Amino acid sequence: MYDVLVVGSANADLTVRVERRPGAGETVLGTDLVETAGGKGANQAAAAARLGGRTALLARVGGDAFGELLLAAQREAGTDVAPVIVDAAARTGTAMIIVSPDGDNSIVVSPGANAALSPRDVAAAKDIIAASSVVSLQLEIPMESVRAAAATAEDACTRVVLNPSPAPEALAPELLASADPLVVNEHEARQLSGLTDGKPAEWAYALREKGARSVVVTLGGDGALVLDASGAQDVPGVRVKAVDTTGAGDAFTGALVTRLARGDALPDAARFAVRVGAAAVTRPGAQPSYPSLAELDELPELPGD
Ligand code: RIB
Ligand code: NA
Repeated sequence: MYDVLVVGSANADLTVRVERRPGAGETVLGTDLVETAGGKGANQAAAAARLGGRTALLARVGGDAFGELLLAAQREAGTDVAPVIVDAAARTGTAMIIVSPDGDNSIVVSPGANAALSPRDVAAAKDIIAASSVVSLQLEIPMESVRAAAATAEDACTRVVLNPSPAPEALAPELLASADPLVVNEHEARQLSGLTDGKPAEWAYALREKGARSVVVTLGGDGALVLDASGAQDVPGVRVKAVDTTGAGDAFTGALVTRLARGDALPDAARFAVRVGAAAVTRPGAQPSYPSLAELDELPELPGD
């Protein structure tokens, strides 16, 4: 029924650009506040849907204006929002984001309605999970709900893709063992592999040793490292001028899962995802920066393509 079901968070992103980050006790002035659609789960869904994947989102939003903003953004992207639960008593999750001139960001998330996405909500979506090719998970909802979604998907032979972000101290062994792939950035790779030094391939092998079925380490402008049954492979990066990196990792994962659902091998899906992630950093915001299928030709080319 769906290529991709994303189970995860939805946040309104409240973004201000600053010349430099304030230190403790310091006040700095920034640009006007911009409100856009974000949240790691909603971002992945929007990215997947824009790229033509048949996509649905299981998330919770509040019965407020931010919830409406998020639903409208998903509909515009082409996501089926039927599974989204609107909780009139809750506030929609919000992310306070500051972006510095180099495009880097600092984010504080107030979970709001995301904190109430429960294992029971996941159980109610059992049939949709079973009818999807890939279930895509991140960690801005309660961990027990992520684990329930992974376990339900496993039972139904639905592929699980896990982006363990924000990075936890550790992951439950069954959750890690369901990840095919585990998609980690450098920080998450070090944290979860327990290796403070070393190279991306070493982190990936360590994570597979710990149980992940396959691993993708995202490396920003340096591309990605893919480890699957055929071994470790580097995917070259694309150098672009970074305007705002917010949600670029989510664009990568949304693109990756769309291609995996269509039957691409992991390295091929990662090559496509690197280009989509690169396109996303050249524009402000998370979801508003994601490319559509029609824009694919304008995506930066990878060396060797
Ligand atoms: O990964 C980027 C996202 O993290 C933002 O959209 C923000 O909402 C936070 O969830
Ligand atoms: Na962006």
